[in-house]
Amino acid sequence: MTADKQNSAPNVLPVGELPTRRLGFGSMQLTGPGHWGAPDNPQQAMQVLRDAVDAGVTHIDTADAYGPFTAEKYIRKALHPYPEGLVIATKGGLTRQGPGKWAPCGRPEYLRQCVEMSLRRLQVERIDLYYLHRIDPAVPMEDQLAVLSDMQAEGKIHHIGLSKVDIGHVRKAGELIDVAAVQNKYNVSNRVFEEVLRHCEIAEIAFVPYAPLATGKLTEPGGVLDELATKYSATPAQLALAWLLHRSPVMMPIPGTSCSTHLHENLVAVQIDLTREDVTAIGLAINDNPAPSPV
Ligand SMILES: NC(=O)c1ccc[n+]([C@@H]2O[C@H](COP(=O)([O-])OP(=O)(O)OC[C@H]3O[C@@H](n4cnc5c(N)ncnc54)[C@H](OP(=O)(O)O)[C@@H]3O)[C@@H](O)[C@H]2O)c1
Repeated sequence: MTADKQNSAPNVLPVGELPTRRLGFGSMQLTGPGHWGAPDNPQQAMQVLRDAVDAGVTHIDTADAYGPFTAEKYIRKALHPYPEGLVIATKGGLTRQGPGKWAPCGRPEYLRQCVEMSLRRLQVERIDLYYLHRIDPAVPMEDQLAVLSDMQAEGKIHHIGLSKVDIGHVRKAGELIDVAAVQNKYNVSNRVFEEVLRHCEIAEIAFVPYAPLATGKLTEPGGVLDELATKYSATPAQLALAWLLHRSPVMMPIPGTSCSTHLHENLVAVQIDLTREDVTAIGLAINDNPAPSPV
């Protein structure tokens, strides 16, 4: 058995043309219960953001809907003026009705307001990467993308991304706009969107898996990640993230945490060189949604 290393992909990828470190940070956990309102300790939330940037993170993911507005405000308070090279990705098109409640709204006039308000909250003149958070089935997709494309032409959005989309959406959107990134749920235990990932590889679109730790489940002890932990002197969380980085060269995970200890633990994942055999073993052992791919 050869033990050749599988992760030959660089740790920096272009989002559009913006060079971005592959392991980013997701800010949804910097909010209150049900992602509603402020967390218990806002100072700690802002410290996590500063620690992320100090540790070299160059990709911060957020959305107007986190709080709503809370995560974007913390990003500005903690990080503005932003260091050169920091890519802040935000989203619009999901409204909030209370803790744990989300509903899409893709009316063009509302999306325009979302972008304008994110610009104001983040205190930027242009948003690096702006995702349509959900495609609203009640509004033609063309109309939702057209307003973002208009705002890109106006210089208010640099790159456009899609979130929680199927392969049909990605293909159709690709005929209408330049899609810089796709953000879908994907982790070693949930690989429903393999086909979208394959499309992103071929089209050279950044694939940003949300819930890369299965919202914390993959950090729990037990199973193959625990078995391999000693071999790699790593934690299950680090192995789950390292697996993603090995899985595809366009993969840009955004693990979320409200705690600087977890942040630093997670960032070590880029240094872990899994063998091809272990990438396969992890992939075969953990997959709640079997998909055609062996890894
Ligand atoms: N596009 C979308 O529709 C969408 C949907 C969901 C999420 N997202 C984005 O994706 C990001 C990541 O997803 P997520 O935050 O839902 O899930 P995740 O990154 O899979 O997991 C976050 C959970 O894992 C825990 N955790 C993180 N690192 C840990 C570690 N080293 N050890 C133990 N526990 C750890 C966190 O708790 P602690 O706070 O205690 O560390 C939190 O409960 C979000 O922050 C958000 O930016 C996007």
